[in-house]
Amino acid sequence: MKHKTLFVTGGLGFIGGHFVTIVSQQFPDTTLVVIDKNTYAANPERMVPVLAKENVFCFEEDIVEAAKMETLFARFQPDAVVHFAAESHVDNSIHGPEAFLQSNVVGTFTLLEAARKCWMKAPHQCKKEFEHARFYHISTDEVFGSLGDAGAFSEQSNYAPNSPYSASKAAADHWVRSYYHTYGLPTLTTQCSNNYGPYQHGEKLIPTIIRNAVNETAIPLYGDGQNVRDWLYVEDHCEAILMVLSSAPAGATYTIGGNATRTNLELCTLLLEHLDRLYPRSNNQSYTALIEFVNDRPGHDYRYAIDASKICEERKWTPKVTLEKGLEKTILHYLKEYTKR
Ligand SMILES: NC(=O)c1ccc[n+]([C@@H]2O[C@H](COP(=O)([O-])OP(=O)(O)OC[C@H]3O[C@@H](n4cnc5c(N)ncnc54)[C@H](O)[C@@H]3O)[C@@H](O)[C@H]2O)c1
Repeated sequence: MKHKTLFVTGGLGFIGGHFVTIVSQQFPDTTLVVIDKNTYAANPERMVPVLAKENVFCFEEDIVEAAKMETLFARFQPDAVVHFAAESHVDNSIHGPEAFLQSNVVGTFTLLEAARKCWMKAPHQCKKEFEHARFYHISTDEVFGSLGDAGAFSEQSNYAPNSPYSASKAAADHWVRSYYHTYGLPTLTTQCSNNYGPYQHGEKLIPTIIRNAVNETAIPLYGDGQNVRDWLYVEDHCEAILMVLSSAPAGATYTIGGNATRTNLELCTLLLEHLDRLYPRSNNQSYTALIEFVNDRPGHDYRYAIDASKICEERKWTPKVTLEKGLEKTILHYLKEYTKR
């Protein structure tokens, strides 16, 4: 890795935690500085072995705190920031949007400013020691709104966010873009589809399906279950991030997806059929009988799909883990957590 010191915001969360783990394994000489507010969504216990390493540091801080961020930049002089920290649950953004404005928009702005002060000699001129620096903003396909029955999101798609969560991520994308164009801050942005895998917070769809199934309680699906999402195994996302970080030119953006679109009902059924095999019900029926349709989420986007051809061609990245295999790995993880077996 050409970067010596990486700031990873949100490194105690789902994707950030996988990223920190992978980087510390693949690049043991890289200094990693995790900055995380340790919200309800963080999982510090899972990170204990990684955080115990000599060159991995962790600071329980809120990224909106400008003075604290500037102090950390001055102390560690990072040459890359991989910015995962965000409020990430759409349902929470409907009930309490302000936290999303603070962490996702103000927090991103605060980090951009801290990076600009640390790295830039003048507009469009990085200090010599930061000439390879990158500010990498991790965003979501949800910023593009909803697709009809055809087409896929790409780097050319227009922004059309429909939830307070996606609006906050879209705003952050725009701030990042503006710092590249106005100040020449060397930024990167990728918009990824739904991630899944071990250690995702229990509030999200896949852990909820598994938990409710093994607890023999109703499995709620919004509306008629026909909303379409694309699914990417979290470690494949982390590999894509590493490839973009190490080789993409400043200012680049990429859409990232798993080429695995399913309706929520299809995904749920596939997951439960795996569970039938891996952890059969005591009554020998299928867990799919537990599916229950509930009132739709307000502003629920109908369909997301990703055209990932730019990252595949330019960065030579392709997802390695099939949906079948990824779901099986995910189920085996959550069975340990939810059944203590
Ligand atoms: N999970 C997905 O499917 C998905 C898909 C595309 C993009 N993303 C983006 O990837 C990033 C990570 O998502 P995730 O699923 O790992 O989220 P997560 O909710 O599991 O983790 C977010 C982490 O950020 C931390 N955090 C939140 N606000 C903070 C603040 N103000 N200061 C410091 N730390 C703060 C939390 O404590 C938590 O550890 C987010 O930016 C999200 O928008 C997620």
